[in-house]
Amino acid sequence: MSLNDFIKQLDDLVESASKRFEDAINQTDHQVLEETRVEFLGAKSGKLKEAQKGLGKVAKEDKPIAGKRFNEVKTRLEELFQAATDVITGGSKKGNAEAIDVTLPGLRPRLGHIHPITQTIDELKDIMGRLGFTAVEGPEIEDDWHNFEALNIPLEHPARDPLDNFYLNLAAASHGGGNQLLRSQTSTVQIRVMENNEPPIRIVSLGRVYRPDEIDATHYAMFHQIEGLLVDTNVTMADLKYVLRLFASSYLGGDVEIRFRPSFFPFTEPSVEVDMRWQDTWLEFGGAGMVDPNVLKAVGYDPEKVTGFAFGLGVERLCMRRHGINDIRYLYDSNTKFLAQF
Ligand code: PHE
Repeated sequence: MSLNDFIKQLDDLVESASKRFEDAINQTDHQVLEETRVEFLGAKSGKLKEAQKGLGKVAKEDKPIAGKRFNEVKTRLEELFQAATDVITGGSKKGNAEAIDVTLPGLRPRLGHIHPITQTIDELKDIMGRLGFTAVEGPEIEDDWHNFEALNIPLEHPARDPLDNFYLNLAAASHGGGNQLLRSQTSTVQIRVMENNEPPIRIVSLGRVYRPDEIDATHYAMFHQIEGLLVDTNVTMADLKYVLRLFASSYLGGDVEIRFRPSFFPFTEPSVEVDMRWQDTWLEFGGAGMVDPNVLKAVGYDPEKVTGFAFGLGVERLCMRRHGINDIRYLYDSNTKFLAQF
């Protein structure tokens, strides 16, 4: 038998086997599958066995090629049978996407992250708690009395400008008084606490404030402040500086320096800007000062008997300094990859 004839015979065998195993699959019939197996792969008189006889008849020098080809065809037929078995019994060992490999380790559920600002707030609350300050909250929608009037910010004061605040009712804003707004500072909470409590007072309040600032790397229309208030007898600026230094070094590390620059706020007198030096740069973190006697009077305290200090610092700024974040917008983008680092 010539090599060509032998190979032709093998090719025909593969072709007819493909068709027959396909038929078996289409009929989804175990009986047909078994008959097909015997027909082609049967050990005694299967067609493969028949073809093997031809191998003995090819010329000696063609034997290596013919033998190799025969083995390939044998493997091919076994594959056809295996594939048909897998489909018909429905339990494919490979290629069945629904098969469950019980030996694989389970999938760990993806847990969320606490937002870096929330983490910062929690930590700052802890630090101030250790210094004896109780955390309190105030509403984000405020009235004109708590955001301005009681804080010694009179009607004509530029801080009330509708362009600098989110008033809920713009028309009423230009007439002043009795209007509501998204609070522009957490100093509102000072008033709420003093209205409802007698001195001594030692509170801290962390929360959102809103200002229609143009958004850039250091400004956002919403941000967070930490407000501190201490009212007691004989409170001085030295107490303020002591508390702020402890606060700053607790959060940013022992090497942080703190600096007061003279400033003005209607609700403190004297007033200062609070700067912190960290890794060779001075940065402004917020304002502070001694509670203005007019504010103490507005809440019914006697400024002859008690004094106090207050401060308000930017939470984002503290968080950004601590983590080396250089753009506030990262904190409020839905960029989960960035936030997932925390
Ligand atoms: N409320 C001020 C601000 O938002 C900060 C401040 C708070 C200043 C308390 C003095 C005392 O800028």
